[in-house]
Amino acid sequence: MEQKGFTLWFTGLSGSGKSAIADEVARILIHRKMKVERLDGDIVRKSLTRDLGFSKEDRDKNIERVTFVAKLLSRNGVATIVSFISPYREKRDAARKETTNFIEAFAKCPLEVLIERDAKGLYKKALKGEIENFTGVSDPYEDPVDPEIVCETDKQTLAESVTVVIKWLEEKDFVPRPEEKTEEITEKEEEEIKKRLEMLGYL
Ligand code: ADX
Repeated sequence: MEQKGFTLWFTGLSGSGKSAIADEVARILIHRKMKVERLDGDIVRKSLTRDLGFSKEDRDKNIERVTFVAKLLSRNGVATIVSFISPYREKRDAARKETTNFIEAFAKCPLEVLIERDAKGLYKKALKGEIENFTGVSDPYEDPVDPEIVCETDKQTLAESVTVVIKWLEEKDFVPRPEEKTEEITEKEEEEIKKRLEMLGYL
């Protein structure tokens, strides 16, 4: 199967599980011999967009630059797996228009659960007013309207969410199914069958 380029775009609040799901999906696709690239907020913000903060204007620029990179990759046959809060619908819709085979994957988790979990300790700080414009606390997040994939990360384990994504990609033929024994018989197998039939006196 010739690899089709696509842009698998994870959106969701900080701590919703975007990066964890995206990393695991990438690992599986690499294992299936695909060309894969990852673009992740925490990493891209240390290089390509390190000059940007978290105002609406800067978030928009962040997403615009990432969209540009995803456009180049996805149109050249790469499985491009993107994970950014990407809180604004307008910018995600622009990414949908500009990139090849855009797939929106929503890492959906109620804010209360994220505040409770607070893996990075950022919600606590944001609630105390120590971080300005923090998404979900003091800055908006616009839910996707009709995402291709939804991972309810408060109800699913990481493995379950990953399975939801992989199944979707397999069903749409973006990802080959894992190698399993096919109906096709190899030359070597045919030899063996022949030998056995001869032994049994059929040939
Ligand atoms: S986006 O809004 O521009 O798409 P992006 O995904 O790149 O955000 O970066 C989000 C990450 O930056 C969060 O996971 C968090 O670790 C960190 N961060 C720091 N300040 C903020 C903030 N004010 N709002 C959201 N995330 C922040």
